[in-house]
Amino acid sequence: VSETGCLSIIVLGASGDLAKKKTFPALFNLYRQGFLQSNEVHIFGYARTKISDDELRNRIRGYLIQGSGSSDKQLEEVSKFLQLIKYISGSYDSGEGFQLLDKEISGYEFSKNTVEGSSRRLFYLALPPSVYPSVCKMIKNNCMNKSDLGGWTRIVVEKPFGKDLGSAEQLSAQIGELFDEPQIYRIDHYLGKELVQNLLVLRFANRFFLPLWNRDNIANVQIVFREDFGTEGRGGYFDEYGIIRDIIQNHLLQVFCLVAMEKPVSLKPEHIRDEKVKVLQSVVPIKDEEVVLGQYKGYRDDPTVPDNSNTPTFATVVLRVHNERWEGVPFILKAGKALNSRKAEIRIQFKDVPGDIFKCQKQGRNEFVIRLQPLEAMYMKLTVKQPGLEMSTVQSELDLSYGQRYQGVTIPEAYERLILDTIRGDQQHFVRRDELKAAWEIFTPLLHRIDDGEVKPLTYQLGSRGPAEADQLLERAGYVQTHGY
Ligand code: BG6
Repeated sequence: VSETGCLSIIVLGASGDLAKKKTFPALFNLYRQGFLQSNEVHIFGYARTKISDDELRNRIRGYLIQGSGSSDKQLEEVSKFLQLIKYISGSYDSGEGFQLLDKEISGYEFSKNTVEGSSRRLFYLALPPSVYPSVCKMIKNNCMNKSDLGGWTRIVVEKPFGKDLGSAEQLSAQIGELFDEPQIYRIDHYLGKELVQNLLVLRFANRFFLPLWNRDNIANVQIVFREDFGTEGRGGYFDEYGIIRDIIQNHLLQVFCLVAMEKPVSLKPEHIRDEKVKVLQSVVPIKDEEVVLGQYKGYRDDPTVPDNSNTPTFATVVLRVHNERWEGVPFILKAGKALNSRKAEIRIQFKDVPGDIFKCQKQGRNEFVIRLQPLEAMYMKLTVKQPGLEMSTVQSELDLSYGQRYQGVTIPEAYERLILDTIRGDQQHFVRRDELKAAWEIFTPLLHRIDDGEVKPLTYQLGSRGPAEADQLLERAGYVQTHGY
């Protein structure tokens, strides 16, 4: 990291799942690639569990080795990285633990001869949102550095940011009283994915797409997330939130913004986020007949899920955008757990060619597909002449598969990229407060109806495509099944 001033990264909730599986491995990858130099970075783990430094290190070690391999050199790197981590135990709502934490951080800064006002402190809240307000208050009261010489204090928070518009606004207000917006980094890890980051480049750096990206040419857009496993040990959390809050209101809606927004004035984070807010505000209220919910058979067998749970594990929701570019074009957001495959993709379907002289349209329409995962790729489905003596047509593909095109290039993990952005102070790929509000405004009425039991999920088989009604909705929204899909 090029900025000067020693850097302390404080992982709150250090013994929890998110920290072990995502935060520490991401930090380790940054360390491995030389972004975190051991002479200028120290990592502090903080949690309630009373364990020693070594116990924390041992808990994390396995997750780091998974990603790094186990040659002697790799194991040595892991050990060196682990030595950067110090653990402090304390509660999330009493000053004592945070004073101790501050003492440790200051001690480290002092040992590096850091000039007061130039140190950098990054607090990563790998915690449930219920404790965000108290933890933020503790940080504010006990752990702030002076920042007059270019130093800073930043906090990183993870979803779920609230459960609906009201609770999200309350949370935002509580945190907003303590920290300014430029200090708050709301992570949505989908914004760290390679092909999501590529969307702006694709749309605004290619002449091909500029004239086509509108209601005159595009028939419908699908943004799809599928997982081939269920809630697996997360039933308690999941049942409280459901698939709309877990995936659609955040991850898929962020992707939607990047597909549907207007061209920003520049690449400045505020310009980009201004456009995202505008397109979110142009979404009209969701109609009940444009929603299909599902719950997979067996979901309620999870002992942490209530027997009468009404929580959807699958949803297809059609969004309609009321603006000049998109009037009449359905954006179909679909997400499901326990389906037949694991995939996330954007599928843009173009309208039929007017006056088709080849009568080829029943073979399928033009589609542009961006596969976010697995196996990142983009491909265009187009009609070509079937090679041979006959003048017949066939659907084929122009295919850009990253694995082939960029052989040997490692695509960074989303968290890795986003943590680096927080250190660099780049908020482009983070969710701004007004953006969050606009996102909740779209889904809150529907979520309330689900919570009140007014809208119920249909049952679908584990390992299936989800409820058949979702395919029917897709058809009603004008999606034409493409040959071979
Ligand atoms: C998380 C959700 O935000 O994203 C999980 O809480 C989901 O339920 C995960 O499994 C999916 O992330 P990815 O990067 O594996 O697509």
